Amino acid sequence: MTDNDHGDVGKNRRRRVLYGRRMGRPLRVERRKLMEELLPAVRIDLTGAAPASLDPRSLFARPVFAAEALPPPAETWLEVGFGGGEHMCAQAAANARVGIIGCEPFVNGVASALQHIDGGRLENVRLHPDDARAVIDALAPASLARVYVLFPDPWPKARHAKRRFISDANLDALARVLRPGGLLVVASDDRGYIRWALARALAHPAFEWTAERAADWQERPADQPPSRYEEKAREKGISPVFLVFRLRSGF
Ligand SMILES: C[S@@+](CC[C@H](N)C(=O)[O-])C[C@H]1O[C@@H](n2cnc3c(N)ncnc32)[C@H](O)[C@@H]1O
Repeated sequence: MTDNDHGDVGKNRRRRVLYGRRMGRPLRVERRKLMEELLPAVRIDLTGAAPASLDPRSLFARPVFAAEALPPPAETWLEVGFGGGEHMCAQAAANARVGIIGCEPFVNGVASALQHIDGGRLENVRLHPDDARAVIDALAPASLARVYVLFPDPWPKARHAKRRFISDANLDALARVLRPGGLLVVASDDRGYIRWALARALAHPAFEWTAERAADWQERPADQPPSRYEEKAREKGISPVFLVFRLRSGF
């Protein structure tokens, strides 16, 4: 396998890696313990999952902290590249009836998210500590109400453009798993990435841009807590852009 390939997303398929590093500093004892004890309880098992068959509500059938099973979530959201899990877990805490699937290959980010899940005793988060595309491929059609792609790696050099998460192929895949009227939220502090993402989504027949006035892309949606990368951008004096697309009905 080369640096550009990714072997765990399908038997005969090789995919370009879209993310940067998988491992940062060695984990502290508490985080190592969460990786060993809590991750198995919240981790999505895709072993043997047939493509396009997974009902995401089934992932929440077994409680993590509660003694008894909880009702299935009213809807399911997906976060691609949750980083340290700040946005994902704040959303989970604020929306107990929503099941949130988070995907992130960066081990230290997964450990940080587990700390948030544990601290908030969050029942409604499930994790895939790897490439989001494997989960998207497994999901049943129209099974998600929202997808968040917040501050994706910008891969600013033109020769790395194929690694950008927002791509024609991934928009096709997201159009399949979003339900009609479902939302795709893309945020970035990289103007080049925003131009790229906007051009791709506007050219895609399944998505319509919801913005009606400048404030709609200049301000974070009111029901969305900040992510760590948003805060980092603001500390540097950069105002991020928030693009919200809706899946057209009948697509
Ligand atoms: C710049 S960070 C932003 C983290 C977080 N969303 C935030 O706003 O704080 C982008 C993250 O996306 C993750 N990532 C990149 N490609 C991914 C993929 N294909 N599936 C899941 N996560 C991915 C990276 O590992 C990285 O942690």
